[in-house]
Amino acid sequence: MWGGRFADGPSAIMREINASIPFDKALWRQDIAASKAHVAMLAAQKIVTAEDARTISEGLDQVAGEYEANGVPEDWDLEDIHMTTESRLAELIGPVAGRLHTARSRNDQVATDFKLWVRDAIDRADDGLKALQIALVTRADENAASIMPGFTHLQTAQPVTLGHHLMAYYEMTARDRDRFADARRRLALCPLGSAALAGTGFPIDRDMTAEALGFDGPTHNSLDAVSDRDFALDYLMAASQCSLHMSRLAEELIIWASQPYGFVRMPDTLSTGSSIMPQKKNPDAAELVRGHAGRIVGCVTSLMISMKGLPLAYSKDMQNDKPPVFEAAGLLDLCIAAMTGMVADSTFNTDRMREAAELGYATATDLADWLVVQADIPFREAHHITGAAVKLAETRGVALDALPLADLKAIDERIEESVFAALSVDASVAARSSYGGTAPNQVRSQVKRARKELGME
Ligand code: ARG
Repeated sequence: MWGGRFADGPSAIMREINASIPFDKALWRQDIAASKAHVAMLAAQKIVTAEDARTISEGLDQVAGEYEANGVPEDWDLEDIHMTTESRLAELIGPVAGRLHTARSRNDQVATDFKLWVRDAIDRADDGLKALQIALVTRADENAASIMPGFTHLQTAQPVTLGHHLMAYYEMTARDRDRFADARRRLALCPLGSAALAGTGFPIDRDMTAEALGFDGPTHNSLDAVSDRDFALDYLMAASQCSLHMSRLAEELIIWASQPYGFVRMPDTLSTGSSIMPQKKNPDAAELVRGHAGRIVGCVTSLMISMKGLPLAYSKDMQNDKPPVFEAAGLLDLCIAAMTGMVADSTFNTDRMREAAELGYATATDLADWLVVQADIPFREAHHITGAAVKLAETRGVALDALPLADLKAIDERIEESVFAALSVDASVAARSSYGGTAPNQVRSQVKRARKELGME
């Protein structure tokens, strides 16, 4: 394709280091679509004849049919998907295929193809996250009043509702979807027609190709257009942050599924067994989600480091943009789908959760709050009195509300019988009805708002 000025062909090493076809063949659909848009524009602008354009366009359809049926052939001599397609087109339709590359370079071509691919990846992530949100909201609704311990430092802190906990992940995934939408908005301009770096002297119509490929318009600076991989980084950064959320949810389910917790039974379909220990059911899918998040973060780092020192415009380093994006996208899609299955199909042991909340002195803050409200004691002093009560309960190995009133009165005589009503876990969560709080009525209104956002009602 470019051998005119060379006396010797590339060495075996050159061919191997240069070839991107093993991975960029994933761009074949986008490459065909962009080529068809380009040739239609060339015809409309009378840069090629209508007849040649039709031959080329039909030839491209034929190549696409072959790829669909047999996959994309990997010939290192043809370097990448762009040359592979053009070469096959020439085999099929003859020298007229050579007119396709008029007023275009692989530099604007690859930027365009890659943007189209990333746009699809963003849409897939959004669809996946929406399905996850529907699962979260559904389980939260069922468990708006299911009580569990809430943790800080992974130590029992205050009782919360399982619905409230699940809705926290709804909020995280809502921000993820927003970040993906933002990334999509920012990749809305089409690089095609920027040519190698400087634009072209042919009378092309960039608005036409931009529109045909679903962009809002053409990019404004040809040097930037062929050098820019911000759109891939935007996607990877949104994907990284999303993967952290998937990983945190996975981590919680792993902890909750361990026998000493016993809060959740993972679905068999997303668990594996042990080859030696017959009783084992391991949360491998969740562990891999946690692991994959590390790889996804590695992908964003990889592309940032590839880009950071590059002068304008295109350098071949940029060919390395695709593997991390393809890898991250494949991993992220899997992570989101796995977490959706886990949320939808896990069995929560709500009795065990409630028991854990009751045992962990989770209502100690409620005792302190009662002293403030009912006995007008400053909070710091109330905190101290409550600490003494917890210490006594702990020594006796009982829950706070199992201490006799006389013993509580010995700690502070202002404590009255009515305190016991405040010490139940149900009273504790019901009391936390500030906006966004854990009380079942607040959780139900969070769920209602989310269902509306998701178009579920
Ligand atoms: N395979 C190349 C890539 O993915 C296409 C662009 C090649 N351009 C060039 N001037 N060698 O980046």
